[in-house]
Amino acid sequence: MSIIIDGKQTSAVVRKEYAEEIKELAKKGIVPGLAVIIVGDDAASAIYVRNKGIACQQVGIYSEIIELPKETTQDELINRIKVLNERKDIDGILVQVPLPKHIDPKAVVASISPAKDVDAFSEVNVGKIMIGNHYFLPCTPAGIIELLKRYNIEICGKDCVVIGRSDIVGKPMAMLLMHENGTVTICHSKTRNLADITRRADILVVAMKKPRYVKADMVKEGAVVIDVGMNRDAEGKLCGDVDFDEVSKVASYITPVPGGVGPMTITMLLKNTITAAKRNHGIE
Ligand code: GUN
Repeated sequence: MSIIIDGKQTSAVVRKEYAEEIKELAKKGIVPGLAVIIVGDDAASAIYVRNKGIACQQVGIYSEIIELPKETTQDELINRIKVLNERKDIDGILVQVPLPKHIDPKAVVASISPAKDVDAFSEVNVGKIMIGNHYFLPCTPAGIIELLKRYNIEICGKDCVVIGRSDIVGKPMAMLLMHENGTVTICHSKTRNLADITRRADILVVAMKKPRYVKADMVKEGAVVIDVGMNRDAEGKLCGDVDFDEVSKVASYITPVPGGVGPMTITMLLKNTITAAKRNHGIE
């Protein structure tokens, strides 16, 4: 039976540390500020955004949630971002994706000042991550690295397999594992003989958006399995991309869904907002 990596509990510990740091910043008159923009009425996005606001409040970050109607034009959205770029009380800006179809997410991300791009989605920030000189780390991959470190799981020299090549998770995850000296393989929807590759993994990160796709016979005995999936099964129950009941019998460590990677993603957003505030005030 594997050890369950408890993202909820770890998040609570890490958030307490951040709350302490924010108290210290407050003594210097600094209150980190985050603006979260949501366009339209996507139900899942609304929940994510609400949770981000609650998390900010928990640790003492000022947050402003800007809800815009789905008819908002790209220019209107970019103009809102330009105002936020100039505001001294806002250190981080995040535009929740997905956006309505008539808005180009690349153009929107490009309009966010790289110094306030706490998602680390902009070309400048992605480039900086690539060369190991990051300004911010993308929240989900950074949360996974933090979980591995907090559970004393060594990455150096390990065979790491990432399933998924998205800009938000798969690609930056591979990069961060490589920066930690893992030997990294990226698999995706066109990969042949997927199970042959995943069975080699010491650390397997799964971000493929397929409910319970990864079964026990795809996992090496003793592997560390990180499940980024967040799906609803046929009964409407939340589940990951990994068949937890099966895989937890062979893995040494495994993240559950919910309560694994998800809470750490928001925690890393808090971290990036604190980092932005410190930099904007010349502390770091
Ligand atoms: N939608 C789903 N995950 C994310 C995220 O990490 N950042 C933003 N901006 N939108 C998301």
